Formats: sequence, C-alpha cells, structure tokens
Amino acid sequence: MTILVTGATGNVGRHVVNQLVRSGQHVRALSRNPAAANVPEGVETVYGDLTAPETLVPALKGVKGIYLMTSVAGGSPLQTGSEIIELAEKAGVRRAAILWSGEKGTVERAAEASGLEWTFIQPYCEFMSNTLIWAESIRSESVVREPFGDSLNAVIHEADVASVAATALSKDGHAGKTYILTGPEALTPRAKVRIIGEALGRDVRFIELTKEQARERLKKLGVSEDMIEYVLKWHENLPKEAYTVVPTVQEVTGQRARTYAQWVADHLQDFS
Ligand SMILES: NC(=O)c1ccc[n+]([C@@H]2O[C@H](COP(=O)([O-])OP(=O)(O)OC[C@H]3O[C@@H](n4cnc5c(N)ncnc54)[C@H](OP(=O)(O)O)[C@@H]3O)[C@@H](O)[C@H]2O)c1
Repeated sequence: MTILVTGATGNVGRHVVNQLVRSGQHVRALSRNPAAANVPEGVETVYGDLTAPETLVPALKGVKGIYLMTSVAGGSPLQTGSEIIELAEKAGVRRAAILWSGEKGTVERAAEASGLEWTFIQPYCEFMSNTLIWAESIRSESVVREPFGDSLNAVIHEADVASVAATALSKDGHAGKTYILTGPEALTPRAKVRIIGEALGRDVRFIELTKEQARERLKKLGVSEDMIEYVLKWHENLPKEAYTVVPTVQEVTGQRARTYAQWVADHLQDFS
C-alpha cells in the first residue's frame, strides 16, 4: 500500500519517510517543491499544498495511509482540515497519523467525524531539533543565550515522533488512540548545553536571557508577534505533559525513546 507523507522535508516527516521505507512500505512524499525534496531512492515525490486541498487530489491517488501535519509554514494552524479529510476518504485512504500542533484543530475534528482510522500523535514537549537554533553561537562563540534556563522539558527526538507515526500507519491496533509523547528524561536548557559541551569536549557557556531579550531575538529571526507571544506564554505556563516523562514511545514502538545525548551525537557536525 502507498503511504503519503506530508511535511516530508521537515524534522519529523523526513524520519517518517525513512522509517516507512525501511519497513518495506511504498512511500509518496508531499512537498511544495518536490524537485528539492531529497528523499531516499524508491520514494515518489509529489507536489501538494495543504492550504489548497484541491492540489492534493493527484497525491492521494491509491493512498491507504497518510501522515498529516496540522500546521503550515510559519506555524499557523491548518484551516483546511475538513476538505483534506474528505478528499482522503474519497480517495480510499484508511489510516491517518496526525501530528499535534498545540491544539485540537480542523484536521483532528474532521478525522474524528470521519470513517478513517485516525491516530493522534501528541508531543506536548519540545522537539530536540529546536536546539539547532543554538548551533551558530556554539560554533562561533561557544555560547548559548536562552530564557527560562531552569525550565524542565521532556524533549523528544524527532525520529521517535516519527517511529510512533510510522508504527500507527503500518501496524494494526492504533486506531482511535491519542498518544501523548515525551523523550526519556526531562532536561533544562542548562543541562542540554552541558550535554552538548561534553559531546564537543569543550566548555559551552549558558547565558540566561530576560523575556524582553528573548522577544527581541525572536523578532530579529523574523518570528511573527503572535508566535512570539504564544511561545513565551507557553514557556511560562508549561503544561505538565511537557515535562512529565511517559513511556509511550517504547510502548508503541517497542524501542526505548532516544536520549538527548543520542540526538546531539546525531547532530554533532552542526555544533562543531
Ligand atoms: N518543534 C517543537 O518543539 C514541536 C513540538 C510539538 C509539536 N510540534 C508541531 O510539529 C509541527 C512541525 O513539524 P516538523 O518540525 O516536522 O516540521 P518542519 O520541520 O517545520 O517542516 C514543515 C514541513 O511542512 C511542509 N509544509 C509547510 N507548509 C506547507 C503547505 N502549505 N503545504 C504542504 N506542506 C507544507 C514543509 O514542506 P515543503 O516546504 O517541502 O512543502 C515541511 O516539510 C508543527 O505543527 C508543530 O506545531 C512542534
């Protein structure tokens, strides 16, 4: 059966593609720029824009399972969920693994009302890949500047989010389940910086930013005002699901959740 992976060029989607290929599935990768998608051999690439559902019709042909993002470029929640789910059902899609983007949106509501076997993948915690934002200052000055230095978060490796999604799409028994995910340990930004320093074999300094300094930095990075306020508020009022470690990754996939030290080893060249 063919599985359509949306967000196939993204942090999680790239791993979903790789893992499905490794388990012998036929994979079609969706991108707004398929020529640049850089997918493994044997993976089909196809154009599609989730904000323009009619563009998904060719992509959905012959598809039985779909990994579906629920937000689009810039982080805004997808407003076209009901059209996408309707088209998917019409095309004969049976399963959908749906990635949480912070709240139940149009995709989740439409999936619940549909005949699809849906699985909601809900990492309330942060992706380990968020710390790639530190790479440049670590390379150039061995420094990380962040607010909320002592705030715990049970960060998850994107490959583990992907493993849960790939399992839900390729194995029975996951229909109608909501999987809240975390990594194997809750870490503060200071602790993560220490782990990076250990892997690099040199001291990396942590400098705590005030909220105002953090707001300015995000502005300079081109993050929208709304997103900045959302991110800062989220950090100040972390839900307990973001820092309370749960065993879901291992329960669903049979594999231990990867540690932050493993993630750093996977990305050492980015920090060196
Ligand atoms: N970062 C975190 O800590 C965290 C934690 C929990 C949940 N999440 C959620 O995870 C999601 C992000 O996942 P990610 O990090 O794997 O993604 P990502 O690396 O940010 O990549 C975004 C992907 O979405 C695709 N995309 C963007 N706009 C699109 C559109 N209009 N139509 C079709 N495809 C589009 C892009 O593909 P092309 O450019 O190739 O079209 C790209 O592959 C967000 O919903 C976020 O809320 C993130």
